[in-house]
Amino acid sequence: MNEKISVLISEEKIKKRVDELAAQLSECYSGETVTMLCTLKGAVVFTADLIRKLTLDTRLEFVRISSYDGTESTGKLKMKYPLECSVKGKHIIVTEDILDTGRTLKFLHEQLKAQEPASIKLVTLLDKPDRRIVDISADYVGFTIPDKFIVGYGLDHDQKYRNLPYIGVLEQ
Ligand code: XMP
Ligand code: MG
Repeated sequence: MNEKISVLISEEKIKKRVDELAAQLSECYSGETVTMLCTLKGAVVFTADLIRKLTLDTRLEFVRISSYDGTESTGKLKMKYPLECSVKGKHIIVTEDILDTGRTLKFLHEQLKAQEPASIKLVTLLDKPDRRIVDISADYVGFTIPDKFIVGYGLDHDQKYRNLPYIGVLEQ
């Protein structure tokens, strides 16, 4: 099958928006230590760029929740790589690549909340509000996008295209 990718958000636009988000977070948490909780694998590229622009004492942790198989949501959630640190009393900032049905972030938010952090905020690079099934929204959104399958800048199709420097729509 031939796959064509058309650019939806350019490298320059991503960079500008990441800088804006980092400035907002740096102001919001001024003087605090934050724990960035990156959701593997899709949010790795976004998180790597974001944390380098934060003017905060920043820790970095990872979690992996699997709900996706190819381009279809299975609806089943698994904690494939659980959190290694304690959350209690910490300022947790979750970074996600894309908020789609909302199941992943809802699941993670509930798990984190039960561990009594000082605060939790959700930051997503992309938001597809048309696809939402569960009631959740992000505190910070990079870009609101239409219901298209997205690749690049960390997002994959069958593990391909994560290394593209732009965000593209996969046309099949
Ligand atoms: P939910 O539905 O739980 O899904 O909000 C979030 C996760 O689903 C994956 N996802 C995508 N991955 N292109 C991708 O590469 C997409 O267009 C897309 N939509 C959802 C992604 O892993 C995200 O974390
Ligand atoms: Mg993801």
